[in-house]
Amino acid sequence: MIMNRKLPIGVLVSGSGSNLQSIIDHIERGLLGAEIKVVISNVPDAYALERARKHHLPTLVIRHEDFETREAFDAEIVRVFKSADVELVVMAGFMRIITPVLLDAYPYRVMNIHPALLPSFRGMNAQRQAVDYGVRFSGCTVHFVDQGVDSGPIIIQAVVPVLDEDTEETLSARILKEEHRIYPQAIQFFVEGRISVNNRRVRIRDGKCDEFLTVHNPALSGF
Ligand code: GRF
Repeated sequence: MIMNRKLPIGVLVSGSGSNLQSIIDHIERGLLGAEIKVVISNVPDAYALERARKHHLPTLVIRHEDFETREAFDAEIVRVFKSADVELVVMAGFMRIITPVLLDAYPYRVMNIHPALLPSFRGMNAQRQAVDYGVRFSGCTVHFVDQGVDSGPIIIQAVVPVLDEDTEETLSARILKEEHRIYPQAIQFFVEGRISVNNRRVRIRDGKCDEFLTVHNPALSGF
């Protein structure tokens, strides 16, 4: 269901911006009822900025080194987002820990994507952590951001297998494909007003999942 009003979003990036690209593509294909008001990068040469410019989106570099505290850096982000009437903050490969200055300005309105099945493998290099640990499945998680690291209420997850021959790179690529699907979906749930949070459990109104869905790795042989 696409509504006429577009949700004004602000995107925070630091790197390649493939998730930003997926969000842009879903908006342009009419599948995501959002409008990107501004893309902010803390890294001046992030490729994400290139991607945004190619689509004529407003961009801004706010270098964290230019601020004495994390709070002052966040206050500048809030100032920019508020002046652009942003209603939802989307962290897409943004490599900074944010503070209550941003969270209090956007309560349950800051989303992040993490390349693991949270709460496993929080923090940096989640895909390498998964390969090194030897899990049989990993995946990605879109969650609301809270004050912890990768600890906020979970909106949607996708599961992918970890294969014997996987490296950090091959697993990352498999996970990234799913990131590009679940992030636009999570934002669209928000656009449609279908998300509620109760004691950190997120409910998606009319969200469906097959209760008998199970998956094994390696596959079972007749059991
Ligand atoms: C993704 O793996 C995301 O899960 C993590 O950082 C990476 C960003 O990739 N938070 P990109 O910049 O969107 O290509």
